[in-house]
Amino acid sequence: MHEDRLRYAPLAEKVTSAENAARLIRDGMTIGMSGFTRAGEAKAVPMALAERARSEPIKITLITGASLGNDLDKTMAEAHLLSRRIPFQSDPALRRAINAGEVMFVDQHLSETVEMLRTRQLGPIDVAVIEAVAITEQGGIVPTTSVGNSASFAILAEKVIVEINLSQPVALEGLHDIYIPTHRPHREPIPVVAPQSRIGLPFIPVDPDKIAAIVFTQKLDSSSTVLPPDAETAAIAGHLTEFFLNEVKKGRLTNRLQPLQAGIGTIANAVLHGFIETPFHNLTMYSEVLQDSTFDLFDAGKLDFASGSSITLSADKYREVLPRLPHYKPRLILRPQEISNHPEVVRRLGIIGINTALEFDIYGNVNSTHVGGTHMMNGIGGSGDFARNGYMSVFVTKSIAKGGAISSVVPMVSHVDHNEHDVDVLVTEIGLADLRGLAPRERARAILANCVHPAYREPLADYHRRALARGGHTPHIIEEALSWHAALRATGRMPTAVSTEATG
Ligand code: COA
Repeated sequence: MHEDRLRYAPLAEKVTSAENAARLIRDGMTIGMSGFTRAGEAKAVPMALAERARSEPIKITLITGASLGNDLDKTMAEAHLLSRRIPFQSDPALRRAINAGEVMFVDQHLSETVEMLRTRQLGPIDVAVIEAVAITEQGGIVPTTSVGNSASFAILAEKVIVEINLSQPVALEGLHDIYIPTHRPHREPIPVVAPQSRIGLPFIPVDPDKIAAIVFTQKLDSSSTVLPPDAETAAIAGHLTEFFLNEVKKGRLTNRLQPLQAGIGTIANAVLHGFIETPFHNLTMYSEVLQDSTFDLFDAGKLDFASGSSITLSADKYREVLPRLPHYKPRLILRPQEISNHPEVVRRLGIIGINTALEFDIYGNVNSTHVGGTHMMNGIGGSGDFARNGYMSVFVTKSIAKGGAISSVVPMVSHVDHNEHDVDVLVTEIGLADLRGLAPRERARAILANCVHPAYREPLADYHRRALARGGHTPHIIEEALSWHAALRATGRMPTAVSTEATG
C-alpha cells in the first residue's frame, strides 16, 4: 500500500487508523507535533485526540514548531485537551483559553525550544506526531511544508507517530536540510555560511523501531490569513525602500542588501512584496516563514535564494506554487527552526530582520505580543531571535489600530518584547525613525517627528515635553506612563487631546 510513500517495508505493519494511533497518547503526556505557521502540521491524530477529549478526561502538554493550521489549535482548545502550549500560537479560540488562564502558554523564542528539550530543561517528549511526505528506504522521515521542531521531536521522543500525507507533493522531497547541532559546551560551529548552505540530510534520521504507528492522510494545509497590501503597508514599504536606497548611497549596503528575514503577518508580507518595485536585486532570504511575497519576488526575478523553516501561502498562491515546486526547488531550503533562527547564524550572515510591532514607545521599546499589556495575541515567535542578533532590526506597524481608537506609538509600552537595545529602525505609514547610535532623548525626537499619527502627535509631544522637564536619561512621568492604556480600557480609546489634568 503506497509503497512509493512508505518505502521501508518492515514498517508496513505499523499502518493504522488515526484513532488507534491517538491511543498511544495518554493523559498527562508531553507531545511534540509537527507544524509551523499553519504549514505541515500533523492533522488526523490531533483531531482524533480532540474527539477523545470530549468524552474522556485527557490533558496534554503540546509543543509544536509554531502555530497550527486546519483549526487544530481551536479544536484542541475547545475540547479542553491542552493544559500547556509551547512555543507559539495564533488562534482566536486558543487565545481566549490562554487569556482566561485555562491553558498555560509558554511564549518562547522559536530557536530555543529544542535546546531546552535536548538538555531536559523541558520535556521529555513522550510521543512525537510528525507529518511526512514519505518514509525513506532507511526509515528516515521526509517532512512536508515545514520542518519546525519536527526533527528533534522525532529524535528525542520515546515513540513516533508518522502521518504520511498523500496530498503533499512528492516534489517536496529534497527541499529539507536536517542538521542537529552537537552538544554544548563543546559544540562545533554551525556550518551555514550563506542562505544556500546545505549542511545536513534531506530527511529526519530516526530509529525505525521507535515508529509506533503510521497513518495515511489526505488533508491539505490551510492557507494563510494574510491580507493583500493596502495604502498604509505600501507607504511603510516605500519608507523602508527609501531608507535602504540611502544606505546604498552611503556605501553601507549594496543593491543586494543583506539576507532578509520577514516576520509573519500582513504587514511584513506586504513590505517584502514592495521590494518588487525597487532597484534592489539578487536578494536572498534567511527567514523562518516563507510567505506569498517570497514567491512574488522569485517571479519578479528579484530573489536568488530563500531559506526558511516553512512555506505558508494564501489559497491562490498555493494553487500557483505547488505544481511549480520543481521550478522553485533549486532556490529553496527548509531547515529546522533552531537553524533558521539560530543566533550564531543570524549574526554570521548579518540578517536584516523585519518584524511587526503591536505598539512601540517614544524610546523604541516594542510590544509584539500583549494587547493592553495583559492579553496574549500570538507570541514573540522568532522576532527576538532575529532582532537581537542580526545586522539590523526593523519593526513596522500601522500608526493606529482599531479605526484610530488606538495609537501604536505610546508613552511607554504596556509589555516589552524587544527593548530599546535591540531595535534599530521603526517604520509606520507616516514615516521612518532611524534610531541607530541615538541616545534615548534623541530616539524620542526621531520617533515623535516621524512615526506618530497626526491625531496623537500633540498629546504625545505634550507628554514628552513634561517628561523632559522631570529629567533623567530616559525621561518619563512614571505615574502617567501607562495612562493611555488605562484610558483605552476605561473609555475604549486613547487620548487624542492634550490632558488638562496632566501633571508635570
Ligand atoms: N493594540 C491592540 N490591537 C492591535 C494593535 C494595538 N496596538 N495593533 C494592531 N492591533 C490588532 C489589529 O487591529 C489586528 O486586529 P484584528 O485581527 O482584530 O483585525 C491585529 O492586531 C493584527 O494586526 P495587523 O495590523 O493586521 O498586523 P499583522 O497581521 O501583521 O500582525 C502582529 C501583527 C504583531 C500581531 C503579528 O505580526 C505578530 O504576532 N507578531 C509577533 C510574532 C512575530 O513577530 N513573529 C516574527 C517571526 S514569524
